[in-house]
Amino acid sequence: MAPRVWRIGLIGFGNVGQGFIRILVNKGSKLRERYGFEFKVVGIADPIKGSVFDPEGLDIVKVIELVDKYGNIKDYPGGRKDIDSLYLCRSDSVDIVVEVTPTNVKTGEPGLTHIREALKNGKHVVTSNKGPIALAYPELKALADEKGVLLRFEGVVLSGTPAINLALEALAGTDISRVRGIVNGTTNFILTKMEEGMTYEDALKEAQRLGYAEADPTADVEGWDAAVKAVIIANVLMGGSITINDVEREGITKVTLDDVRKAKEEGCRIKLIAEVVKGDEGIKASVKPRKVPLTDPLANVMGAINALTFETDHLGPVTIVGPGAGRVETGQAILTDVLAIHRYAGGR
Ligand SMILES: NC(=O)c1ccc[n+]([C@@H]2O[C@H](COP(=O)([O-])OP(=O)(O)OC[C@H]3O[C@@H](n4cnc5c(N)ncnc54)[C@H](OP(=O)(O)O)[C@@H]3O)[C@@H](O)[C@H]2O)c1
Repeated sequence: MAPRVWRIGLIGFGNVGQGFIRILVNKGSKLRERYGFEFKVVGIADPIKGSVFDPEGLDIVKVIELVDKYGNIKDYPGGRKDIDSLYLCRSDSVDIVVEVTPTNVKTGEPGLTHIREALKNGKHVVTSNKGPIALAYPELKALADEKGVLLRFEGVVLSGTPAINLALEALAGTDISRVRGIVNGTTNFILTKMEEGMTYEDALKEAQRLGYAEADPTADVEGWDAAVKAVIIANVLMGGSITINDVEREGITKVTLDDVRKAKEEGCRIKLIAEVVKGDEGIKASVKPRKVPLTDPLANVMGAINALTFETDHLGPVTIVGPGAGRVETGQAILTDVLAIHRYAGGR
């Protein structure tokens, strides 16, 4: 039986967690009207920003007021404060666990333990955390199937721009032979600025100033972030079983202004392209700077925007373009998955 009111437990109250709760505050009544989606956020667990649990439902307007004012929710009036993330994974008062803790691509933790524990306890899980999906998708999917619950993760590749659900649901029945695209906004922003004449170093500084790049930009500029996404595309969308070590990877640190100018003269743009190809010899994945002709939709994706082209048998190439990061954008990924759970597990 589907619950009358979906009870949500949120683990991690950073950018995405707050983006999602903000959407619920702003859109809650529309979601009820449009989709008959009734919900309560019964708990939030975050080691620094604070944890609170109330099976009757938290006042999410108050939660947002507190985090906006103090950066934490420690002074939330009422509720239990002695709970942690695992409590939410096990509580009988939670139907859907939203897991939005930081990504760790080596261990998957703490998200991997949260997701396993929530699934084991019969909770539906929504996450935007790449680590657990890249490292343990087959195990987690099998566990979700065994428990009869849903594990959804739209946000792990292009944040709220449909990629995972597009391929698994909207493109269901097609065979996807190749996926290629721009899956890292920071590097695409840097390459765009280089095309405007900035050096790599200045473009990186600009990306850092605008908050697109981390103080340590290695994960983006050396192609690691894109490589993790290629692993997810290969394993989840194309039936592969590769690891990050199988991805041929080269970042953008060696791309010079001269390379960018020469590409332009040839009617091309240099883009950091993640590509996964399914052939007779299995799945091959790479992340590399490539010259892309201006006639290719990917060449016209500029700034921090992302895009993916799916090569399919029934439709030929299908390209989706949109943001690949952001609080509200990734909050939207969580929302679309929560609504899918409402649709599929709620008998709608
Ligand atoms: N932001 C985006 O645009 C975006 C896009 C796509 C995917 N994602 C993914 O979505 C996830 C969340 O991203 P984000 O930007 O919201 O990260 P974030 O701002 O760093 O927020 C993560 C929050 O989780 C908390 N946390 C750490 N360990 C925890 C634990 N054991 N239990 C409960 N909470 C814990 C962190 O606490 P403290 O840091 O305070 O210790 C932090 O408040 C990440 O996996 C990220 O890769 C993000």
